[in-house]
Amino acid sequence: MKETFPLFPQQASTMAPRVDALYFYLVAVTVVFSLLIAIAILYFAIKYRRRSESELPHGIEGSLKLEIAWSVIPLLFTLTFFFWGTSIFFAMNRTPDDAIEISVVGKQWMWKFQHADGQREINELHVPIGRPVRLVMASEDVIHSFYVPAFRLKRDVLPGRVATLWFEATKPGRYHLFCAEYCGTKHSGMIGSIEVMEPTEFQAWLAGGSGSESLASAGAKLFQQHACNTCHRPDSLARGPNLEGLFGKPVALEGGGTVIADESYIRESIVMPNAKRVAGFQPLMPTFQGLISEEGLLQLVAYVKSLSKAAPSPAGILPPVQDSPLEKEVRE
Ligand code: CUA
Repeated sequence: MKETFPLFPQQASTMAPRVDALYFYLVAVTVVFSLLIAIAILYFAIKYRRRSESELPHGIEGSLKLEIAWSVIPLLFTLTFFFWGTSIFFAMNRTPDDAIEISVVGKQWMWKFQHADGQREINELHVPIGRPVRLVMASEDVIHSFYVPAFRLKRDVLPGRVATLWFEATKPGRYHLFCAEYCGTKHSGMIGSIEVMEPTEFQAWLAGGSGSESLASAGAKLFQQHACNTCHRPDSLARGPNLEGLFGKPVALEGGGTVIADESYIRESIVMPNAKRVAGFQPLMPTFQGLISEEGLLQLVAYVKSLSKAAPSPAGILPPVQDSPLEKEVRE
């Protein structure tokens, strides 16, 4: 073990120094105010101590000025936490447009990754430096939490929804990945690493992979297999909404209201088609709950997303995607 007990994890993402700066500011303000209070207590305890048995305290008048001062000054201090924290929160939740996407599925007890062009990994994720990476995450069973201390990054992954987060790595190296939510007997073993590489190395690594089909084309295959295309079609025979150009757009719902067609909505509409039905369509669609794996759902989401981009999605015929040999190996 090189660094036995580092006080802080390394800073290896663009967000890490920002989070740390706010953290140290919070610590500094807390320490200063704690000291001020402790000193005031001691000072007053000595200054106003009872000097004789018969001494009676005299009445104290309130001071409006003092009361306003000790209300407004702390308010301003706490508002600095709020505004600073909010700006970091928004930065963390707004993915830059040029981010590469990687799908992540948590299950007892491993992290499964799939790169956009199909490359798969388990408990290990290769990413390039200097490039925003967006993770589209789902859980196959219980709540897990994706946690990379060196990136100051943590997000719960709940069954039944899609969580997303992004980061941009700044330093090549190997960083810990943890599951930060107790998820069963082998929770503590649900660990892995993030391998941050120079962009050229990363390209070489990607190119040297097993070369399975891309997320979107695997999704396109599932779309055919489950005959989704018989209803979701652009022509007049369509009994379901046309999915082309849908992603990221607002959708009018039956019974009023709208929803943005994001990853979560598309996933939900596959497993619970009637939860938020599109206005003007009959409740004809059956649920696909349990029929499509969580990875399959993310592939379908990637496919629907690809229908909104200019590039046509390539179709490939390749082996089925569930339970790869790699996954079996890790499980055993
Ligand atoms: Cu997964 Cu703890």
